[in-house]
Amino acid sequence: MTGALRGVVALDGPSGTGKTTVARKLAAALGAGFLDTGAMYRLVTLAVLDAGVDTEDADAVAALAEGLTLDVATDPEAPAARLDGTDVGEAIRTARVDAAVSAVSAVPAVRELLVRRQRALIAETVERVGGVVVDGRDIGTVVAPDAPLKVFLTASAEVRAARRGAQDTAAGRPADEAAVLASVQRRDQLDSSRAASPLRAADDATCSTRRNCRSSRCWRS
Ligand code: DC
Repeated sequence: MTGALRGVVALDGPSGTGKTTVARKLAAALGAGFLDTGAMYRLVTLAVLDAGVDTEDADAVAALAEGLTLDVATDPEAPAARLDGTDVGEAIRTARVDAAVSAVSAVPAVRELLVRRQRALIAETVERVGGVVVDGRDIGTVVAPDAPLKVFLTASAEVRAARRGAQDTAAGRPADEAAVLASVQRRDQLDSSRAASPLRAADDATCSTRRNCRSSRCWRS
């Protein structure tokens, strides 16, 4: 059965803005699919850490990523992330993964691999239910540049860190405010300055502050 949405909604922005929550709710309301691309980078990162591979060794990271079976559910009512068949939905949200995910997602071969898989999942989901809401950093610029609706969600690092801290506390993970803020700022810096498809609002994206704003928070070129 197909829902009300036709095609792709691209939802990009830095960490902690609530992209994933918004994407899930929007997809559920429209009877569409939902794809959390950050979860895919987190799955690869967890595998790299568990295998004891150096996150700065791009060749080793890429070789490991190539052999993984990554599974992210596209049903907004039943989000799930599995690595080689094991449910790791909790493990990919830990501070350990937060600290390493920017390095892993900066490896060009990892991005090529995941962008290919993301495009296949998007095509398959659109075919099945008519539309999909995709959240990430490069959806409007690289993964789905033809998406008819692109939204860039942003907020100050302080507001995003407070949100992340509250999420951690609710999930029973101890949250140190200063450490969460430092982690958010570090990821902003790494994600927006990497050479391969950095975090950036697409020129035709609607920014959550205002349309076509030139705020430095949108990392527009
Ligand atoms: O949205 P998130 O915080 O779960 O994303 C985790 C990391 O993955 C983030 O620091 C940057 C990276 N990422 C990316 O490079 N490209 C995407 N499309 C999604 C996430």
